[in-house]
Amino acid sequence: MAIYMVLKAGEPILREKSKPVKKITPNILKLLDNMAETMYHSEGVGLAAPQIGVPKRVIVVDAGNGLIELINPVVVWEEGDQIGKEGCLSLPGVTRLVKRALKVKVEGIDRNGEPVEILGEGMLSRVLLHEIDHLDGILFIDRALDRPIGH
Ligand code: NI
Repeated sequence: MAIYMVLKAGEPILREKSKPVKKITPNILKLLDNMAETMYHSEGVGLAAPQIGVPKRVIVVDAGNGLIELINPVVVWEEGDQIGKEGCLSLPGVTRLVKRALKVKVEGIDRNGEPVEILGEGMLSRVLLHEIDHLDGILFIDRALDRPIGH
């Protein structure tokens, strides 16, 4: 296992659309392991592969209820709203208010290639949506309600 350096805002890869994973290879399994280790080491609640320089649709999340690994995650359902503070390992020290769905259903595949469905509410919904945004090159500051002029 290895801890990656988390890329900071300004790196072009953070603004790219990541590519779907076509096949679960040993490299994808290693990526998942290293992403989880990097997330925990950085005391983050989620991490997306482009944040460590890998433009693939892979995320890891732990919003306090254990590790979730998702390959090719897709939001299939959302309900309600929540407004809360958000931050990101790629924007250290920055927090902004962001509106997200209160509840979300995400489908993807796990490390065994099996389909998985995650129901998230509150914090988990927020983190899942934040990480999936990263796969489309979207940063939370793009959605900030309290975005200062010029940012
Ligand atoms: Ni982030």
